[in-house]
This record gives sequence, C-alpha cells and structure tokens, in this order.
Amino acid sequence: MKGFSRFSGFAAVVVAIGVVAGAAGDLTGRWVSRVPNGDGTFRETVFVLNQQGTTLTGSVISPTSEQPIADGAIDGDTFSFASAPATNPRRVVYRGARAGDELRITIVRPGRPDQTLTASRGPDSAGRLPDRIPPPELHPVPDNGLARTPPMGWNSWNKFRGAVDDATVRAIADAMAANGMKQAGYIYVNIDDTWEAGRDSSGRILTNRKFPDMKALADYVHAKGLKLGIYSSPGPFTCAGYEGSYGHEVDDARTYAAWGIDYLKYDWCSAARIYRDHEMQAVYQKMGDALRATGRPIVFSLCQYGRQDVWKWGADVGGNLWRTTGDISDTWESMSRIGFNQDEIAPYAKPGHWNDPDMLEIGNGGMTEAEYRTHMSLWAILAAPLLAGNDLQTVSPEILAILTNRDVIAIDQDALGQQGRRMKKDGDVEIWVKPLSGGARAIGVFNRGGAAAPVSLRCDDLQLCGGYTMRDVWAAKDLGPLGATFSTSVPSHGVVLLVVRSVRV
Ligand code: GLA
Repeated sequence: MKGFSRFSGFAAVVVAIGVVAGAAGDLTGRWVSRVPNGDGTFRETVFVLNQQGTTLTGSVISPTSEQPIADGAIDGDTFSFASAPATNPRRVVYRGARAGDELRITIVRPGRPDQTLTASRGPDSAGRLPDRIPPPELHPVPDNGLARTPPMGWNSWNKFRGAVDDATVRAIADAMAANGMKQAGYIYVNIDDTWEAGRDSSGRILTNRKFPDMKALADYVHAKGLKLGIYSSPGPFTCAGYEGSYGHEVDDARTYAAWGIDYLKYDWCSAARIYRDHEMQAVYQKMGDALRATGRPIVFSLCQYGRQDVWKWGADVGGNLWRTTGDISDTWESMSRIGFNQDEIAPYAKPGHWNDPDMLEIGNGGMTEAEYRTHMSLWAILAAPLLAGNDLQTVSPEILAILTNRDVIAIDQDALGQQGRRMKKDGDVEIWVKPLSGGARAIGVFNRGGAAAPVSLRCDDLQLCGGYTMRDVWAAKDLGPLGATFSTSVPSHGVVLLVVRSVRV
C-alpha cells in the first residue's frame, strides 16, 4: 500500500530509526509511537511536529482521526501541546521531553490516568493516508434473502472489547448450544473488532495471535449448529485501530466466504478520514456487492451510527440491518435514551432489513433486572436485532430467563416484521404497540420515572374493544378477556408487556 504506514499488523513495520528530519535538537518531523496491543499488533500514534523557535504546530494522527495541535510550546528540552483550545472540556494535553533520540510524551486526559508513550522519528510516510479511491456509482444491490426476522445471536464487543479471542468464542458457542440460547433462536456468534492483523504480500487479510485459525473456528461454531460473524471497516482502520478493508473489499469478502463467515458488521470508523458522509451509501454498496459476489449467504450489518438517514438506503446497498445510533453503554440512561428514541424510523423496518438500536447490554451488571426487562421488551417491540452482549459462560439463571423468554422473542421475531411505535406518552409513562401477525398486538407499558406508576389502559385507546384476550408476558399469566379498561402498576424503570389476541382467530 502506497504512501502511508499501517497502524497495526505485522506486514508493515514502521521504520522508526535512522531517518532524521530537521536540525539536531529541532522537534520538526514525524514521530511515531507504537504501543503493543498484546496480540502481535500495535496501536500507532503519529505526532507531526513543526518547530519554529519556541512554538510548536502540527497534528496528532491516530488510526481514526487527525487532530491539529493547539498551544504548542517548547521550553529547553521539554515541550507541551494540546488537542484543542483550553475552552474545550475534552482537551487532551501532551507533555513531552527529549530522551536521547526519542521523545517521551505523557498524555493528560481529564478523568483518566496519565499515559506515557515513547515516540521515535518515523519516515515521511508515517501516518499518511492511502490515496483516495473514488466511490462507485450507485446502483441497487439485490436483496440477499437473509434475515427475514431480526438477526439473533451474540457479539463480543460490549463485554470483551479487545480481550475477545478464539477460546472465548468457542466457550461462548459451547454455552449457547447448552444453555437454551440456541434453542431460543440466538444463532450468530459474532466477533467484533480486534481480530485483525495486517495483510500478506498478496493483500490477504491476516488474523492476529488471538485467532490462530479462523476457518477452524468457523467449523467449530458450525458444528454446534451456530453461525459465525466477523467485523471490519470500509476505512483503512477499524475503530480500535486495526486493519480495515479499504481497497480490499473484494479480497476480504472472498476471504470471509472461504473461512465460512456468515455475518459481517461493517463499521465506518476511519472511512471518515477519506470520505465525506454523503459518500457513505456508495462506500457501503461496494462491500454489499463484494459479499454478494462471493455467493455465500452473509448477513450485512451496517454500522455508521445512524448518519445520513441510513434507514432510507440501507436496504439498497444490500444491508440487512443498520445501526441507528451511537454506541450503547450498560446504563439506564444510555439504553432508555436510545430505545425510546426509535419511533419515527419504524416504517423503514421490514423483513430482511432492520433498524438496529445497538446490541444488548442485558447481564453486564450496570442495570437492574427490571431495567434489563425493559431493555429486552423495548428491543422486541422495535423488532430490533437481538445480539446478547454479555458473558454467556457465567450468565445467571435470572439473566438467562430474560434473554430466552419465548413470548418476548416471539414478539421480536413475529413474521409480520413490523416495528412497533409509541402510541401514547403521558409524563414518564409510554405505551408502545407492535402489530403482530393474525391481528394480535404486543403492548409495552413502560415507566421511565423514578417511582412506580399506576396506569389504566382503555380498550378504546387501543382500538381493541370486544373479543380480545390478554397475556402478561413477564408474569407468564393469561389475564383473560380485555374489558373496557385494564389497570396495572408499572415499577420504576419497568415494563408491563402484554400480548392481546383476537378470540376469533
Ligand atoms: C464502534 C462500534 C461498536 C464497536 C466498536 C469496535 O464504536 O459502534 O459497536 O464495534 O466500534 O471498535
């Protein structure tokens, strides 16, 4: 690859010695720091410095961004600069000193422990981006016929982040096959970021030390009756700074197919350094075409955080699901903000093509069981992909019961494939309704407030008067006919989830 050095991988090691730019003592040049990820790859940061007297200008280049430096100053053998002006609360301050031929740079971030890096002089190519490849003309990618109901499975990111490895994926597959998750419909076992190394001389993507044999891993997962998913980026780097698919879309799709991969999550990340947002559709289409050309059924999951109204074109690029938001975290605030914000885009969900409000946090410990039941209920009403994000090796029976509740899963997976919508909001109480096949309805009565709320539902409001029976899903109780009103109490941050069916069907 021309004109830049890679941030991770074995294939291109930055030559960090013997290239001296500028006069002795002058900081001017490209300084490269390489921090081992622990899997044979490195995370690179390039400091592009420009010394003029006692002032310092330049930029800090990470795999996913290039930030101009502010307030750069030199004082003898020490120097400092910042990532943004002092008024920016997210400003990062860098304090450095010369240490022989190297720079020692301490990164000071608000609320985080200081981190010290060593940087050596790098070649002129260090941190430079590859040449821009113009995005293709738009054309519709034919539907791949997959994901007629929202995909269900597990993904490594929420719990394991960079610690995911072959042994973990096998253990999760074992657990899913044995603990009822597979029987409940969770089929995809998806490896998120940090499996990649660099490329071999023919451009083929390599796995890092954590994944010694991806084909063998796929065989193992398949032998359990499950499917294997993987992750990449249309940019040169993933969000965690690993090798992306930029310029290698066709090679990578072929490699995934040869390994036996069944699902790809494709994450915008560093593509933002090369393309403008309005080019996203064409850039995603490229991988949609490449996956299709392999002839292997591979679910295509778009991850670009809901930008550019992706729900309007995600299906046209061959997408089976598309993220509608930034990253979820394991808090009531994050989950409820995302979940209750999905109403308006409901009409765009349909069999084969789903809005994705991000993966489940159920069981990761940051919410109460009532909140996790709300998370599960809301995602089911939204016809959202159900990708568990917890450690299924150590999952408690209570959490497993939330994840595998058959009635809730049936709401999510209903063949009609219609995303539910908010029918009513009254203070902290929200009523969401999802039409189900056979004229049935799932009704979620949610309480976002801090105290239990009494709620009365009138059959008029629901347009379900006469001839309907009701089931309380979490109580696992048939409640009999729905009368003129139904009164209940919904716990703080909790839900009463009902399925209402016509007695005539
Ligand atoms: C982004 C995505 C996450 C996860 C990480 C991995 O933040 O939105 O879901 O894939 O990248 O680096």
